Amino acid sequence: MSVDRNFPSTRLRRLRKSANLRAMLAETQLTVSDLIQPIFIKENLSGREAIKTMPGIDRLGLDIVNEEIDDIIQTGIKSVAVFPVIDESKKDETGAQAAIEENFINGAIRNIKESYPELVVIADVALDPYTTHGHDGILNETGDVDNDLTLPALRDQALGLAKAGTDIIAPSDMMDGRIKVIRDALEQNDFVNTLILSYAAKYSSKFYGPFKDAVESAKFFGNKTKDTYQMPISNINEALQEVAMDIQEGADIVMVKPGMPYLDVVKAVKDEFLIPTFVYQVSGEYSMLQTAINEGLLSKEVIIESLLAFKRAGADCILTYFAKDVAKKIK
Ligand code: PBG
Repeated sequence: MSVDRNFPSTRLRRLRKSANLRAMLAETQLTVSDLIQPIFIKENLSGREAIKTMPGIDRLGLDIVNEEIDDIIQTGIKSVAVFPVIDESKKDETGAQAAIEENFINGAIRNIKESYPELVVIADVALDPYTTHGHDGILNETGDVDNDLTLPALRDQALGLAKAGTDIIAPSDMMDGRIKVIRDALEQNDFVNTLILSYAAKYSSKFYGPFKDAVESAKFFGNKTKDTYQMPISNINEALQEVAMDIQEGADIVMVKPGMPYLDVVKAVKDEFLIPTFVYQVSGEYSMLQTAINEGLLSKEVIIESLLAFKRAGADCILTYFAKDVAKKIK
């Protein structure tokens, strides 16, 4: 049988013919510096406690946090995002604990920054770990989150976190105007070098399900929704508006969340604004992949594939529960 060797004249497969060539021509790289490890720190816990809905992820007691951070830093990871699991007795209608300077998470952050001054510590601003209803803000008479009533609470929470030594304040509450209120408060209190990472395009997503279990707010939240403040899953123009607003109000970095189902949003944000853009591969995405891997349905290479997709879409850094394991692999 004769083969026409003149066709096709363009052979993209030439570019793929060896592993070395493929590595040289890779358009996107995933490096350890791109990875941020979220950790759950639980009040009154000693040691570790497995999170049922997040196979392989534990809540950590204060006594074991440094051991975990040692392990994380060893891999070359430069940043952690801390989430508190608050004692039930400290939760109330208005999430008052959030604003208390000597609260649990501020103490934990102080300890972490004392032992690891170079580690970039990111902390969430939102009231949900502290409220008995599990919403991110303070409710009005009709049971909806009251935007303007919530802003001062978020401001005070942010100031407490900044005083504790948090490097990056990350409002995840989606109230309008919160970036400005927090930025002003930071400026007025001499925290001019504290960064704000705005969860700017945060969708009202069911992929956060396991997180609610992780921070033990599931039973408080029940099957309500956050639809009146988190973004409609159908919208992208609105995401660009959210990002524009947050940049204008003083955000240094913006985030898109969840990750994999919203790659179009990551790309649009990066293309439009050219500012540091993070993405959060959230709890549900983690559990989905990890469970499929544990069951033998997928090979674990899907993890790096999922993370590289974020880089290809334009993300600078990725919050992912896979961070430590991936960092060990690619270091
Ligand atoms: C709290 C907060 C949530 C997540 C991060 N910060 C949950 C929510 O808004 O319901 C989700 C993270 C994850 O699912 O991994 N405001």
